[in-house]
This record gives sequence, structure tokens and C-alpha cells, in this order.
Amino acid sequence: MRLALRFVVPMVAILALIAYATIPLFEALDRRWAIRDVEVRARLIANTASEPLVSLIDSKDNRKIQRFFERAVQDERLFALGFCDMQSVLLYRSSNFPQAIRCTDTRAYQNPVLTLHVSDYPVEADGKTIGKLVLVQDIGFVGNRSTETKRYLFWLFIVLGLVISFANVVIARLSFQSLMGRMRAALKGGTIKRTLSRMQSPELLPLAQDMRNFLRDIGSDRPARDENQISWTPKTLKNLLKEELAGDEVLIVSNREPYIHSHVDGKIEARFPASGLVTALEPIMRACSGTWIAHGSGDADRETVDDHDRVRVPPEKPSYQIRRVWLTPEEEQGYYYGFSNEGLWPLCHVAYARPVFRLPDWEQYKAVNQKFADVVVQEARTEDPVILVQDYHLALVPRMIREKLPNATIITFWHIPWPNAEAFGICPWREEILKGLLGSSILGFHTRYHCNNFIDTIDRTLETRIDRETSQITFRGKATAIKSYPISIEWPPKHVDNQRSLAEVRAEVRKNNGLPDDMILGIGIDRLDYTKGICERFLAVERLFERYPEWIGKFSLIQIAAPSREALDQYRNLGMQVREEAARINAKFPQAITLKIQHHGPQQVFEHYRACDVCMVTSLHDGMNLVAKEFVAARDDERGSLILSQFTGAASEMPEALIVNPYDIEQCAMALNAALSMPSEEQRARMHSMRGQLQEFNVYRWAGRMLIDAARMRQHERLRGRIKENEAWL
Ligand code: G6P
Repeated sequence: MRLALRFVVPMVAILALIAYATIPLFEALDRRWAIRDVEVRARLIANTASEPLVSLIDSKDNRKIQRFFERAVQDERLFALGFCDMQSVLLYRSSNFPQAIRCTDTRAYQNPVLTLHVSDYPVEADGKTIGKLVLVQDIGFVGNRSTETKRYLFWLFIVLGLVISFANVVIARLSFQSLMGRMRAALKGGTIKRTLSRMQSPELLPLAQDMRNFLRDIGSDRPARDENQISWTPKTLKNLLKEELAGDEVLIVSNREPYIHSHVDGKIEARFPASGLVTALEPIMRACSGTWIAHGSGDADRETVDDHDRVRVPPEKPSYQIRRVWLTPEEEQGYYYGFSNEGLWPLCHVAYARPVFRLPDWEQYKAVNQKFADVVVQEARTEDPVILVQDYHLALVPRMIREKLPNATIITFWHIPWPNAEAFGICPWREEILKGLLGSSILGFHTRYHCNNFIDTIDRTLETRIDRETSQITFRGKATAIKSYPISIEWPPKHVDNQRSLAEVRAEVRKNNGLPDDMILGIGIDRLDYTKGICERFLAVERLFERYPEWIGKFSLIQIAAPSREALDQYRNLGMQVREEAARINAKFPQAITLKIQHHGPQQVFEHYRACDVCMVTSLHDGMNLVAKEFVAARDDERGSLILSQFTGAASEMPEALIVNPYDIEQCAMALNAALSMPSEEQRARMHSMRGQLQEFNVYRWAGRMLIDAARMRQHERLRGRIKENEAWL
């Protein structure tokens, strides 16, 4: 519309001006033509009237002559008629013949209103001129006609102006669309360099040059970050937020909260939960000082929040806040225990536990996801915050947030594996879950393999556009980038700083567990979960003693198992099974396994890592597994061996570990033997290499890479916004 006005108004104005300047010319021309017509007509009248007039003059019948004159002027345009003789005497005339007309020079007559035209013609009798006939004609019609012509001409110019300018608008629009079409085709699916090389048609060349200049400008303003060159620390992350995201608001939303307040012996204590997710995100939050929205699950949680359900943490040195979301027991049952942990958890882990899907659980899952999304929207202070949505409990949240905050950058991270398309296909609400996740701007997994599984699942389930080259899925016009970000731990780990000496903790752990000072110790630290392969680990220890009896009485495994999801039968049964298995093996090989089913704080966990010689991670399936990484981080003495399941995400990052198939008990026993017999030099070499990798690929890098991608995305979106604005302008 604006564009049309820009064309139409000036065009109409120009044509109105032209009309104003040219209409008097048309008017003069019209008058000249009209007078020529009048004169032709006068000659015709004179010719016709001459003969009867000569006869009448011959008859000298004055009455008849007078009547002839009066009748002649009854013609509408012939105003008056007169006859002058050769002596220029006005002999006869109609009664209204103007007195001022002189026979000597009839054309000299000037009537005041210029509506009378005078002309004279000779009258002959027998070939001799006897006088002249003077015709006075009314030419008032000429004036009327020219006013009308003027009006017509004026409107003709205006209409012409409108038609021409609208035709121009249409032509310009069509040409612009075809140009944009060609530009889009050039831009589609490729690098900037390739795009520019495709813009070869002559009309696109200047544009390509402008784009080159523009990109050079952007490049010089902000050199693209090469994240491989960055050494990742909390400070780098803080700077990144400040520079790349201009201090934008950062919100995290997850089911599990980082500090759970509970009543212990009449006091309120804050407990740090056993959760890989929390372990990874907590240092990020300390660095970003944002808001973490999570389920308030502790029995003293309500007592520790302010009026807005917020509490500042960590308790010893507050640097960010938790906003707690309250759930009823029914909600927790359906959403958390039911759909999340009896449905999605076994569905995504190939650990041969059958997923259970119940409609009421799904209903609760939807309602609770909406509750979380509403709290996120409520907490957001800006309309385009960066929101980090965590894990399988909140699969519907990204879309729900997107509906309320369309400009938010939503990064969703799926902390557990994503199964293949067939396995995921058994979920009755698969479409809703996938649509929910596609509300994200970026969807992250630990490994490329999980990304590919997700893309295949989408391909089989939803009508979307998938760009496999860029790993981008477009659903209902909105693109989601599918990326792998291997999660990690903080470096240097904060719990190493205030550790006691190695000798001290080694002695203490042995003493506390009633084990001899020289006992070689293995350590397993997990949540009590069937995906962790705890029983398989015990079987490997048993097999070690059977195959290599020289280790009997010399080696013992300490298994710390944090109670988890105990309201579920499957988890309670696992607890029983693990106890029974440990007891059975201990009966055969005394002190083979020390089982501690209880929660241990991060400090105690770190002491155990340092006190032991071999760490056993035998998960049947695990997204990443941070225990493996924590063990390596804790060993600043560069001693100790790591046995690591091939079914963890960590296995592809830490090939220096002894990689095992936990289902293959023989192989695990052999790996344990190899670990126990490993020369200290080899231990050091492997540990050194793994620590180097961890130092570089720490959790700040994990978060930093996601935030850099988010920042780039926001930058591109702003640019696209600007291009759209310009398109609208055009
Ligand atoms: C896994 C999940 C996390 C979860 C953790 C502990 O690591 O990916 O989202 O927090 O297990 O489980 P819980 O049910 O206690 O939160």
C-alpha cells in the first residue's frame, strides 16, 4: 500500500501539472476551429440567402424584405442579419442588429462579452455587386464547449495518471518478485560463498557485490569465534554471554532442581541430587546468574522460598535463583513416575525394560508440561530470552513456550539416548512429543548417532522438511537445528580444591568400610537404576575371582548406589536384586563387594574416586555418563584405571579407557584383571591423555557451544527480520 502511494501520488501530481499547463493551448486551438466552422456556416447562409434577397430588393417590397430578415434570425445561432449597399449604408437589418456595427468595417465590431461573431459577404445581381450581407452569429456555445472540454481533459489526465502508476506498481512488484525468487534460489541450501557464486545473472551482480561488502563489514565488526581456540572457563562463558548475547536473559527449566531442601534431624538441609543433568548445569548457572525453574520436590522446599517461590543458591555463596514449581502427588505420579520414568525412560534406553504407557499418565504429563511452560513465561522479563529446556520430562514445553514467546531462543537438551525410529514408534503419543520438541530453536543430543536417530524418527512420523546436510528440520515454517553437544563436567572440578591428601582419603575409605589398608579398591557410583548395569558389574567381579583367583582377598569393589525413583516397583525390585547379588557373591568371596545404598554428597563421592584404583562404569545404555568423567577429573595424581561400557556416550570420547561390553561378563572380568595389573606408567599415560581431553572439552564448552549457536541464530534472525522489513518497504 505504502509502495502504491509512493508511485501514485507523484504520478497524479505530475499529470495534473501537465494538464494545468496544456489546457489553455487546447482551449485556444478549440476556439480557432470553432470560429472556422462559424465562418464556413456564415458563407453557406450568405450563399443561400443572396438569391431570394436580390429578388426581394428588386421588388422593393420593404415589408417582405423585413419579414425575410426577421425569419432568417430565427435560427438559433444566427443572431442578427443586415444588408449594406455599395455606399456603406445599412439599408435593411433585423430588429436586433447591433447599432455599433458599421458598414464601412463590420469586422471592427467588438462586443463586450465576445459572444458575437461578425462577418460579411458580397451580394451580386446580374454579375454586379450591389452590396454586402452582414451576418452576426452567436458564438457563446464556443465558450461553453471549451469549459466542458477543459473539465474532460482534466479528468482524463487524472485517470491516465492513476492507470499508469498502478500499471507501474504491478510491473515493479512482478519484477521484484522474480528477482527475489532468483535470490532465494541462490540462497537456498548452501554456504554464503556458494550463494554468491550462484548470483551470476547481470541484475544480481550488484547485489552480490553489496552482500560481499556487507558480510565483510559484519566480519570486521565481529570476528567469527573459533570455539576450538577458546580455553573454556566460567569467565569465558560469562564473557560470551556478555559479548555474543549482549547480556540477554538466560532461563533454565528442568524437572530436577539443583538444591533440595529437606528436614534432617530437626534441621533444614540443602542436598545436591544425584543427577548428571544437575551436575552439568549447576556450574553453568553459577557462571550465568540466571533463573532455574524446577520442581520443588524437597519436604522443606516451601519453607525456604520467598513470596514468589524463589530461593537464592548455592546456600554457601548465592549466585543464581531457583524458581520452584509445585506439583500435587497426583501430578507427580502421572507426569514424573508414570509417563516420564515408566514410559519415556525405558523407551529411550535399550536396557530391555518394557515401557508402560497409560492415558492418565499422559494427561498429567501434558498438564504438568503446561504448568512448567507457564512459569517460564511468567519468569521471563524480556520477550526474547534464551531458554534452556532440559530432558525428557519436558518434551512438550518448547512448543508451549514458543506459542507464548515466539521470539525466544529455545535450546532443548535431551540428556538420555534417542532410540531408533522403530523403537520410538511404539509410543502412542509420539507425534505430540515430536511436535513439542520441534518448538525448539536448537535440539541437542550427546552424540551424532542420537541426532541421526531423531531425524529418522521425524522422517517416519511427521510431515516436515529435512535438510540432512545442515541437520535442520522445518516444521510449519519454523526450523529446528539438530546438533550434538557432548556434555561434560566442570574443569577444574570444584570438589578437588579442598580435598585432603590422597594418602589420607585412601586410608579413611578403607578403614570406614572395614577393609585392610592394602586392599586394591574398585569403585562404582551410580543412581540405583537398571540402566547402569550394577548386577552385571557384580558378576564381572565374581568372574574375576573365578578366573584369576590371585585377586581373592586383594581386590574389593565399593558400590555406592543413590536410591532413585523408589516409588516404582521396578526400582524397588532392582534394590532387592542388587542386595541379593552382592550378598550371594560375598558369601562366595568374602568382602568382594561393599554395597552402600545411600545418598553421598559430591565431596564424599570425590573422596571415593581418589581413594580407589579402578572405576567401573558398566551402563547397559547411557546418554553420556558423567561418573566416568568425574573419576578422571578427580585423579590429579594421574593414577587409576577406568573400565567403561561401550554403550555410553563417553566411550567415544575416552578411548584410553578399557572399553567393555557389559553383557559380556568374561570380557569384563578380563578388563578388570587388566586394570588391576596395569603398570603405573601406562595408567599415567592413559589418565594424562583423558584429563587433557576433559580439560578442553569441559562443561563450559558444552554450554558455550550451544550459546554460540544460539547467538548466531539470533543474529541471523535479526538480519532476516531486517530483510523482511525492507521487503515490506518495497
Ligand atoms: C538422568 C536424567 C536426569 C535426571 C537424573 C536423575 O540423568 O537424564 O534428567 O535428573 O537421571 O534422575 P531423577 O529422576 O532423580 O531426577
